[in-house]
Amino acid sequence: MSKDIAIEDLNAVIRQHSEWLANQLHTQRENLFPPNAQKAIRKFTSGEAAALLGVNDSYLRKLHLDGKGPSPELTPGNRRLYSAQNIQELRVLLEKTARKPGDYLPGRREGDHMQIIGVMNFKGGSGKTTTAAHLAQRLALTGYRVLAIDLDPQASLTALHGVQPEFDLQDGGTLYDAIRYDDPEPISSIIRPTYFPNLDLIPGNLELMEFEHDTPRALAQGNAGLFFFRVKEALAQVDENYDVVVIDCPPQLGFLTMSALSAATGVLVTIHPEMLDVMSMSQFLRMTADLMDVIAESGADMSHDWMRYLITRYEPQDAPQNRILAFLRTMYTDSVLNSTMLKSTAISDAGLTKQTLYEVERSAFTRSTYDRAIESLNAVNDEIAQLIQKTWGRHEQ
Ligand SMILES: Nc1ncnc2c1ncn2[C@@H]1O[C@H](COP(=O)(O)OP(=O)(O)OP(=O)(O)O)[C@@H](O)[C@H]1O
Ligand SMILES: [Mg+2]
Repeated sequence: MSKDIAIEDLNAVIRQHSEWLANQLHTQRENLFPPNAQKAIRKFTSGEAAALLGVNDSYLRKLHLDGKGPSPELTPGNRRLYSAQNIQELRVLLEKTARKPGDYLPGRREGDHMQIIGVMNFKGGSGKTTTAAHLAQRLALTGYRVLAIDLDPQASLTALHGVQPEFDLQDGGTLYDAIRYDDPEPISSIIRPTYFPNLDLIPGNLELMEFEHDTPRALAQGNAGLFFFRVKEALAQVDENYDVVVIDCPPQLGFLTMSALSAATGVLVTIHPEMLDVMSMSQFLRMTADLMDVIAESGADMSHDWMRYLITRYEPQDAPQNRILAFLRTMYTDSVLNSTMLKSTAISDAGLTKQTLYEVERSAFTRSTYDRAIESLNAVNDEIAQLIQKTWGRHEQ
């Protein structure tokens, strides 16, 4: 037997395995979602719509009976179902007669700056993507104009929003197009709307890695300019269009993450409260500080509005986790968000079908499981919304 038949080259084996996997995943997706099926957002019960708007259900019912605002869909049982678009139209209507401006449209006003929130930690699996996706969607559902950016070549945030990184982005379309050194494109050409009103997306895929390769070369040739401002400068082009930008960072401290960090006005560091994770976070923080020193030395402004730690996948009944949480709160005091993101099978199960908990129906889960998870997510996201409001000089939403 000839040697080259018995032993295949490792690169060939890996390439073959990659192709098998990509094809299988594609087929699986085609079976789950037919090729032309677009992801769509479910309807909301009148109770959910009222809660999102911050009004009583009876008031919404009265508006409907008076023929004011959009008409909800009526179920055979005469229950009202509102689309996300209906809710947005109601916002605009209610804002016209609001007691305080911004009660229903809480976004920027004259003089407020766009918030850019980077979700980061180089620990893989610390809940960055889950946090970024739920934050972006919750902000959009509560009336902010949001741009979500997937800066991770693994592209989980992209997949979660119904874009297939390996199939739908063959001609580019990631942030790389807008931040590359030669011939960058206007950022507006890569922004795409999602099925959520108020939420746009810049997807990611492996092409983002090019930025990690290009930057050292550009630096060596002396034409990288202020590389760490590439993201900030690209975002400045669409400053008028958004209240908040949410960036899901890769689990590493490369040039992409540094560039996001330099653009950020708010930084969320996700922490899974386990000793190994906390130990690696110490290194993450030190390396980040060292790298930022270098950037600051070249004259960059490192000021920011806020930085917070968010405890993710928290299990309140777990004693070691509680000890770590207490330790972090003692050390970092107000820098740790009061609300925590609970570990919940509702969140991981929704993730299996590439959905967030805001997308799945409550009926798909045991009620108490769903309610506990949603309550925790809302509390986290609303606490972040309060921080945003505070940076705009408003203390109550
Ligand atoms: N609160 C939660 N409850 C249960 N499962 C969760 C929760 N948050 C995240 N997960 C699950 O943990 C896994 C990792 O989460 P996620 O992808 O958000 O982490 P990440 O920090 O973005 O990872 P990476 O570093 O690889 O980008 C996912 O399978 C996700 O569904
Ligand atoms: Mg991720």
